[in-house]
Amino acid sequence: MMNKSAAQGVASAFLLCCGIMGCHLAVAATVPDAKLVKFGEALFFDVNFSLQRTQSCATCHLPGQGFVDKRPNRAANAVSLGDDNVSLGTRNAPTLSYAASTPSFHVDRNGEYRGGFFLDGRAHDLATQAKEPFLNPIEMALPDAHLLAQRLRENPNYTAAVTMLFGAEVVQDDNAVHSAVGQALAAFQKSPQFSPFDSKYDRFLRGEYRMTEMEERGRILFFSSLINCNLCHLLDSPEQETFTDYRYHNIGTPPNPLVQQHGTGKLPDLGLLANPLVEDTLQAGKFKVPTLRNIAVTGPYMHNGVFAELRTVLEFYNQYIIADTKNPETGKPWRAPEVADNISQDLLQQGQPMDRYRIETLIAFFKTLTDRQFEHLLED
Ligand code: HEC
Ligand code: HEC
Repeated sequence: MMNKSAAQGVASAFLLCCGIMGCHLAVAATVPDAKLVKFGEALFFDVNFSLQRTQSCATCHLPGQGFVDKRPNRAANAVSLGDDNVSLGTRNAPTLSYAASTPSFHVDRNGEYRGGFFLDGRAHDLATQAKEPFLNPIEMALPDAHLLAQRLRENPNYTAAVTMLFGAEVVQDDNAVHSAVGQALAAFQKSPQFSPFDSKYDRFLRGEYRMTEMEERGRILFFSSLINCNLCHLLDSPEQETFTDYRYHNIGTPPNPLVQQHGTGKLPDLGLLANPLVEDTLQAGKFKVPTLRNIAVTGPYMHNGVFAELRTVLEFYNQYIIADTKNPETGKPWRAPEVADNISQDLLQQGQPMDRYRIETLIAFFKTLTDRQFEHLLED
């Protein structure tokens, strides 16, 4: 049997390996979870982890705003402004609601890519994801893990937390600090605040809420085979439905001219093919199916924020079923897809068109997917 200090030695050897190799085995297994969550929460809101000390995770994933970025900018909010106060990215900041339910990036039994974090799944899990924004030059813009660790060591509360949660030797190891920060942020995002399952829809399932007629019609329509949404936006996990199957599809989203004009990054956005683990060109233009939870409060929509209104997204899907539809936001025909290959036509062409009434019922239903904490953000 190992004595206690030998066991700790093993744990810290593990952690060093994790720091260097980027693995994320649970160092946290032996530590009180609540403390890790609290540490993660403090990090999430701390602007000192960006180069000019102007932004934190919460800047682009604001908890009071459905965990998305609502700061106005010259790209009409489609993408986010970085810590340099100049750079705009090329992707819309997704909500962090229910992100914790996302499976790790993998190829499933049918040979299809599933899960992972970022719109192209390039981060295997939440802890890996959380390490990236700090070092992204158009986001928090720290040059390296060394400056990140230095910023952490400026704060005695953080040094104490890392010492207690991960071990004293970790505090001095820049890469291990980077990993520990990732673990803490992942733990925070796994806390119930991010996934409360307390929307009207959840309350309806528990018999605590009665749907209005419109909401109920929208719900029945959504789950029916009359329309195709549920072929992609359903996990089939009735109690904890996240309204995505975590697969990847190209649905023919048009480019966003504002992002083409102002965004820093490679365009067209190849989506899944931009994931370094993916080389198959048949994956170009595919994006991870996004959750529909809190969808009514997390616009603008699509990977490039090209649509301001939820109604427009629904009208957009209609074009695969009825010819000659127009984008209600521009009054013009839909622009050609950002990536014209690999569009999931077979799925998108299934089902009937949605007339105005059906669209209204679906919107009423989608509003019931709003967590209680965001209900006040809903517009009529
Ligand atoms: C400057 C704005 C910005 C900041 C700051 C930022 N993010 Fe993000 N976040 C984004 C954007 C944009 C994406 C999508 C990028 C992509 O897919 O390549 C994203 C994606 C994510 C995702 C993936 C969600 C999913 O469903 O795949 C998570 C999780 C996340 N961010 C958490 C964080 C954390 C934790 C921090 C702080 C360490 C942070 N973000 C800081 C803008 C930001
Ligand atoms: C073939 C799979 C598929 C089908 C069918 C489908 N979707 Fe989607 N949906 C996606 C993908 C993938 C995206 C992200 C596309 C992008 O970012 O370019 C998306 C995006 C969305 C968004 C925007 C989400 C956000 O956060 O920006 C909404 C809303 C949406 N879909 C609703 C629906 C509705 C309603 C239907 C049925 C009428 C439907 N979808 C049918 C795969 C699908």
